[in-house]
Amino acid sequence: MKITDSIKYVGVYDGDIDLFEGQYKVPGVSYNSYIVFDDKIAVMDTVDARKTNEWLANVEAALNGKAPDYLVIAHLEPDHSGSIQAMADKYPEMKLVMTAKALSMLPQFVDAALAARAVAVKENDTLALGAHTLQFITAPMVHWPEVMLSYERSEKVLFSADAFGTFGNPETDPWLPEARRYYFNIVGKYGAPVTALLKKAAALDIAAICPLHGPVLTGDLSEYVGKYQVWSSYAPEEAGVLVAYGSLHGNTAKAAKLAADMIREQGAKVTVVDLAPGTIWPLPWQKPSNMTSCCWPAPPTTAISSPRWKTSCCT
Ligand SMILES: [Fe+2]
Repeated sequence: MKITDSIKYVGVYDGDIDLFEGQYKVPGVSYNSYIVFDDKIAVMDTVDARKTNEWLANVEAALNGKAPDYLVIAHLEPDHSGSIQAMADKYPEMKLVMTAKALSMLPQFVDAALAARAVAVKENDTLALGAHTLQFITAPMVHWPEVMLSYERSEKVLFSADAFGTFGNPETDPWLPEARRYYFNIVGKYGAPVTALLKKAAALDIAAICPLHGPVLTGDLSEYVGKYQVWSSYAPEEAGVLVAYGSLHGNTAKAAKLAADMIREQGAKVTVVDLAPGTIWPLPWQKPSNMTSCCWPAPPTTAISSPRWKTSCCT
């Protein structure tokens, strides 16, 4: 799939994954990867090992007999590093471009010998491909320490790593509901690093955002950036009051509802939620139509076998 005349999408969609990162129920997820074609050819990230063969076939078809010069590695989490070894084995002349931090972590994910083919880059380093130039932007703890983004200067394309990613099928699912859920489950506790990254991004003229999950974002990017500004600052998306309660015998429930009525009488928008298991929560992001279960406010970050998961999810 063409992003621009020189940039192609070669990612894959994983529609039958059971739990993303072993814990999040998702309506599928894409592992995105791109190729920048110029005098030199750069492949932007690999994919989860679940999809290595399909992805390599996409890459080979897009390359049409050529060999890539660089593999740019934004993030080493296995949903993106799972095919580095296979790619490096297939193209033995290809260099691996990553941050020094990523290089120090690399042997945990691939054969240690691959480090000899690595090119370590730092903040604002550039890689000239011909008419295209990649500028590297570090983004530590968005959401691992080695993360970097790449900005292609000539076409103003930002390869944003996991930032601006979302669950779901990039061709059919809307960005916002699952992007919100993705953000708060994957990077939500790293608000300060995300805010720092947004400041760096504000200095760039961006025409398209190419994340590692979900659709390529084009057109008016203010909606997406605006949501990230709200989420990373822990500001509410809507002004209002949330009254959440658990009630063993119903008395706390009565008190909570009474409190909600009193607040409502003051003119505030009030949402009341019963935290008891089995409640179907009336919030838009909890149950995509193609899912059979839901969690509030999102799946817990503990293992699926944990008590917290069992008490947080309803079916
Ligand atoms: Fe990811």
